[in-house]
Amino acid sequence: MAKKRPVKITETVLRDAHQSLIATRMTTDQMLPIIEKMDQVGYNAVECWGGATFDAAMRFLKEDPWERLRKFRDGFKNTKLQMLFRGQNILGYRHYADDVVEYFVQKSLANGIDIIRIFDALNDIRNLETAVKATKKEGGHVQTAISYTLGEPYTLDYYVKLAKDMENMGADSICIKDMAGLLVPYEAESLVRAIKENTKVPLELHTHCTSGVAEMTYMRAVEAGCDIIDTAISPFAQGTSQPATEVQVATYKGTKYDTGLNAELLNEITEYFRPLREEALASGLMSTKVLGVDINTLRYQVPGGMLSNLVSQLKDQHAEDKFYDVLNEIPRVREDMGMPPLVTPSSQIVGTQAVFNVLMGERYKVATKETKAILAGEYGQTVRPFNAEIQKKVNGDKEPITCRPADLLEPELGKIEAELGEWKEQDEDILSYALFPQVAMDFFKHRKAVREGNAPVCGSVECSVQPVK
Ligand code: CO
Repeated sequence: MAKKRPVKITETVLRDAHQSLIATRMTTDQMLPIIEKMDQVGYNAVECWGGATFDAAMRFLKEDPWERLRKFRDGFKNTKLQMLFRGQNILGYRHYADDVVEYFVQKSLANGIDIIRIFDALNDIRNLETAVKATKKEGGHVQTAISYTLGEPYTLDYYVKLAKDMENMGADSICIKDMAGLLVPYEAESLVRAIKENTKVPLELHTHCTSGVAEMTYMRAVEAGCDIIDTAISPFAQGTSQPATEVQVATYKGTKYDTGLNAELLNEITEYFRPLREEALASGLMSTKVLGVDINTLRYQVPGGMLSNLVSQLKDQHAEDKFYDVLNEIPRVREDMGMPPLVTPSSQIVGTQAVFNVLMGERYKVATKETKAILAGEYGQTVRPFNAEIQKKVNGDKEPITCRPADLLEPELGKIEAELGEWKEQDEDILSYALFPQVAMDFFKHRKAVREGNAPVCGSVECSVQPVK
């Protein structure tokens, strides 16, 4: 029999799967009863923290995300815990100073994370540097992620160079992060092969089933040499989430790619999550909209989420008839902005500006704050130069910055800690507050009220945290 090359599995149910299907609303109490069993599976890792879970825990669930992480660490005795980290944006939406990034990494590892997956929306690797160095310093596993997108500059050579640069900067593994489900099977095969031929570190593939091709994409990628795939246990798989874990395990069984994972054990985990799915469907938290195939993702080569945002923005303006005009405007705006990948936050910046350009009847008559910032270089370097004419129309004679954006930021931690004052109960609170000042403060107030026995009723006027919908 051919030489064995077992494919490894990273389980996403505790992070991306519920972020993608039920708006990140799974609570720690819903997760804890099953983690002892999950710990016996032998996953490559369990992705369980970071991304939108941090904000959502405090905002919607009134939970301390750090407390959740410590509980995971207590329960997962044998399994590596993985988080998703937005480079210099950490888990937020702006660039933070280096001292905040370093401290966040340090505390994430100290509280139980083993692997940090770090990406940048523009694939500007300068925005990964601080987080990568900090992770190394603390002895964590650095996984850098390539934001996968389509478009003329995004050639195999582009991706190979990016992967090599990442390896040179110290990545212990590399992930192809296809957040929109744009990667089709045969493209995946060439991409994986090219990266594997030019780098030595393990390669992981992350995709979403949005456009319906994900399972085939995984198979081609695995055959081409991909080492690790991201999957979700079936009750929280498919649709806008990942392919189902059990299906991948069954697919490779008895072949040289056999995962070696125990199907019976996985079935017990499936049985645990199935009622949670039923409950989410019954309450409307999980909508049939996110469960089907959205072929427009491939037709227009833009993320599904971006299209649905577009429709709702146009509806608000009673301008649904402008849908195709905006759809045509999107690639033009994207080109003006240097052809960024379309992922949070660039997808929102491009989409919203395209809507303005069409509705105002004149391109860039109105430019959003974010459009100004991206054209000022404040998100980093794009693969192509900005459209100089548009840049001038939007920002006047102000020259765009060309340095790493965070080089212009003063250390922030001291000021943040001082502002937090008496509300600080643990050092980690400084970081929660640094990333989401308003949300964290509301949570701290709630936490104190609970301890003093006068917590407001969830959803009442006094309680600023909205109940789970
Ligand atoms: Co994802």
